Amino acid sequence: MGDRWHSGAVHDNPFRPGFGISPPLLAGRDALLDEWREVLGLGAWSPFRAALVTGMRGVGKTVLLNAVEDEARARGWTVVHGTLHDGLVDALEHDRLPALLQERDPEAVTRELTGLTLPQLGGGTTQVVQRYPREPRLESMLARLVELAEGDGAGVLVSLDEVARDSLDELRRIAVAVQHLMREDRRIAFVAAGVPAAVAAALEADGLTFVRRAQQVRLDTLTLAEARAAIAEPVRARGRTIDDDALELAARASEGYPYLVQSIGARAWEHRPERTAIDVAAVRRAVAIAHEAMGESVIVPALRGLSARDRDYLAAMAEDDVPAATADVARRMGATTGLAGRHRARLLDAGVVVVPERGAVDFAIPRMREHLRAHPHDAQLGLPTAARRTFQGGEDVR
Ligand SMILES: Nc1ncnc2c1ncn2[C@@H]1O[C@H](COP(=O)(O)OP(=O)(O)O)[C@@H](O)[C@H]1O
Ligand SMILES: [Mg+2]
Repeated sequence: MGDRWHSGAVHDNPFRPGFGISPPLLAGRDALLDEWREVLGLGAWSPFRAALVTGMRGVGKTVLLNAVEDEARARGWTVVHGTLHDGLVDALEHDRLPALLQERDPEAVTRELTGLTLPQLGGGTTQVVQRYPREPRLESMLARLVELAEGDGAGVLVSLDEVARDSLDELRRIAVAVQHLMREDRRIAFVAAGVPAAVAAALEADGLTFVRRAQQVRLDTLTLAEARAAIAEPVRARGRTIDDDALELAARASEGYPYLVQSIGARAWEHRPERTAIDVAAVRRAVAIAHEAMGESVIVPALRGLSARDRDYLAAMAEDDVPAATADVARRMGATTGLAGRHRARLLDAGVVVVPERGAVDFAIPRMREHLRAHPHDAQLGLPTAARRTFQGGEDVR
């Protein structure tokens, strides 16, 4: 009985509920990846040479970037990957680009080292940095990397994750360097990803025309068929099965939201790992746990980035079981339709709501409605909760 257990079935769980961890099956992204394969195959010119991936948290931006990077490396391309934050340019210039240059061009570094009599400068990385002029160091290092890659019949992919409002300067500096090489028609490709609000800020920012011209890729949730495949194929690949009705339940409960697909899959797998078949009971339990976990992992972080009035808008929406009429939301908020419309626009930008039809608005993230009803104070993050209020006033015990 315990054999499968002891052979580590739980640990063989193929599902990856988390962020930035590549799933066992990247469902529904084949057509997109084909576009990038074309870029990397050095075929005809493709608009995907510079692309901007956007979509709400958990929709699969990071793992798509990972897949594009894997494709690039498999074709011998050099990948310059970074997560946008203050200091990324610095890290690229002093650390990552020198390391890549050294990897690509060890001889040049050796030659340089033997020709120099400055042992106190230390490792090769320092030597590489010394070779590049102080100012457009990012540009010249990238240019050299491209040159080396082209010599091998490949190119350089610059892949940037987590585009954010407060790191637009870093994005700008990197974009300028990339744009320069693209204008010279060098073999360089660029892809960046971020939530819609951050990408919208990048599109509006000065000096980022290059980004404005990039191919926009708005990642959608998975179709029902893709969600089924994302769950069923990894299960079968590991020698287990999932009953048809169980699969249907799991796929529908995910609403095609990739994070939830992995979360439900992982919990269904670990419910009775010693059994071969995953049944409806296992999926039911898994869905309940996965839905509950959405609050902590996705919904609260999404709410945290919003203003108090934007959250009021969501709370007003949550009163309906179906997509809310925008006029009702405005009335419940005690706001003019114009003002409510501005909140809605910001929530659309943030990827938190969608417009299913004119005059209506719905939640983009599964379970947000239910979460806001069950935890109304989450819509007022930062304001005193009912629990905290019980500590206010009363006797002073000092
Ligand atoms: N196409 C997909 N098929 C199956 N699972 C996916 C897919 N895209 C993402 N996932 C899963 O969803 C979760 C969130 O993906 P991630 O790329 O981190 O989202 P984002 O960067 O958009 O917030 C991860 O656990 C990942 O394994
Ligand atoms: Mg991400």
